Amino acid sequence: MKAAIIGGGVIGGGWAARFLLHGWDVVVSDPNPKVATQIDEILANAGQWLPALADVPMPPRGTLSFAASLAEAVSGADWVQESVPEDLSIKHKVIAEIQAHAPAHAILGSSTSGFKPSQLQEGASKPGQIMVAHPFNPVYLLPLVEVVAGDACSDDVKAQACDLLKSIGMEPLIVRNEIDAHIADRFLEACWREALWLIKDDIATTEEIDNAIRYGFGLRWGQMGLFETYRLAGGEEGMAHFIRQFGPCLSWPWTKLMDVPELDEELVQKIATQSDAQSGQYGIRELEGIRDRNLVGMLRSLKERDWGAGRVLNENDKRLAQMVSEAAVVDEGVPTRLLESTVLPAWIDYNGHMTEFRYVQVFSDSSEVLFRRVGMHAEYVASGFSYYTAETHNQFYDEVGVNEAYYTTVQIVLADAKRLHVFYRMHAASDDRLLATLEAMYLHVDMKSGKVVAAKPDAVKKLLALAATHADLSKPEAVGRFVGQR
Ligand SMILES: NC(=O)c1ccc[n+]([C@@H]2O[C@H](COP(=O)([O-])OP(=O)(O)OC[C@H]3O[C@@H](n4cnc5c(N)ncnc54)[C@H](O)[C@@H]3O)[C@@H](O)[C@H]2O)c1
Repeated sequence: MKAAIIGGGVIGGGWAARFLLHGWDVVVSDPNPKVATQIDEILANAGQWLPALADVPMPPRGTLSFAASLAEAVSGADWVQESVPEDLSIKHKVIAEIQAHAPAHAILGSSTSGFKPSQLQEGASKPGQIMVAHPFNPVYLLPLVEVVAGDACSDDVKAQACDLLKSIGMEPLIVRNEIDAHIADRFLEACWREALWLIKDDIATTEEIDNAIRYGFGLRWGQMGLFETYRLAGGEEGMAHFIRQFGPCLSWPWTKLMDVPELDEELVQKIATQSDAQSGQYGIRELEGIRDRNLVGMLRSLKERDWGAGRVLNENDKRLAQMVSEAAVVDEGVPTRLLESTVLPAWIDYNGHMTEFRYVQVFSDSSEVLFRRVGMHAEYVASGFSYYTAETHNQFYDEVGVNEAYYTTVQIVLADAKRLHVFYRMHAASDDRLLATLEAMYLHVDMKSGKVVAAKPDAVKKLLALAATHADLSKPEAVGRFVGQR
């Protein structure tokens, strides 16, 4: 699949990284001569942190290229994401050019923070292919994407767009009725407006406002949002009680809500100076690194609890696990390739290398791929049968560091209806060096009776066909070794 990224700034770069890391090929079009450096920097962060959210192997990274023209970028694209500056005349010009050259099936998502789809679709040749797909920075970590399609897009196109966005780990929030600034940015603006008044009126500094958010309600919002949080504030008596109790405050003069303080030079400088005092000790890249690390920690904690954005990550893991290619071509006479992935940051131990049990995890993930290759999917297990691991022997050969790409292979030593004896190897992708091996014996079990029984004929047939491609290979050197023997 190919994504064309039109405009490779902060947001376009984030999209490029998210697509690439989910295995898409990405072509970027941006007249800025620094675009390649800009995207490299974003990709360096994304490549470190996005895989840290996954507990299953990510697909091999797609290829990144830069097109000389917009027409070249969108040719053959399945998805075009427009992220040029927030100026309707620029967006109209770019959309017209995209639609003149993109394939008929390509959906055009616009990152616009404020424009409605009907504004983007004005005068377009194919309005039914254009929709708002509004992400949040950093696009490669935050799953939310507001999808505002308007009436011009068919339900079919909307559904296709949502499926595709989910396939890159995003959570589409469909905005049914278009409105300026969609849903989320309207909140952000209301907060921002109020914060500007608090600073102008010398009530609080930028740091104090940030502390009011991050030590309190920001944490609540991050996992429950506004209404679920207020439901709890109403106690056993619930939401209606909460509204009756606190609703009248809305008409007290607590807020200035709709008024905006004049952003004159004095106020701008006041805010900028306070912000420098608060955060000036960090460079922007450094602060981005801190933000990403914090987000990953928070998201992983939600993931453990299968809640909010963590639930989205768990669903993405399930999709990624299915994506691991079953249909991969099997080369005769060489061990069969199973996984291609990278060492995740969370896998590194105190000495800077991949920690011991993660090697076992890599081989365990490899066994999942092997079983899916021979047709033993979740349904097979649900029918009451599975391979159980009876014995393993792990050998470690070389160190591997964070983000290093690796691949695994399997060689079938023996396969019959009940037994499967295999030898896995894990290699570094950069130079093929051997990192570790695992010899394993699996027994096919009827899970109800707990007895070893023959696998289903179709699975045995596929297994034997795979084993036949290894028939001419010499027996792996370490098969049958005992601990201490080399
Ligand atoms: N920054 C945010 O937090 C954020 C969040 C969500 C959505 N958005 C939206 O994303 C869009 C882009 O915002 P950004 O913050 O990435 O801006 P940006 O200024 O960082 O990037 C815009 C890029 O578009 C390029 N560009 C300009 N004209 C172009 C053209 N004709 N063809 C191709 N590229 C062109 C520029 O060279 C620049 O690299 C805007 O619509 C904005 O509202 C921004």
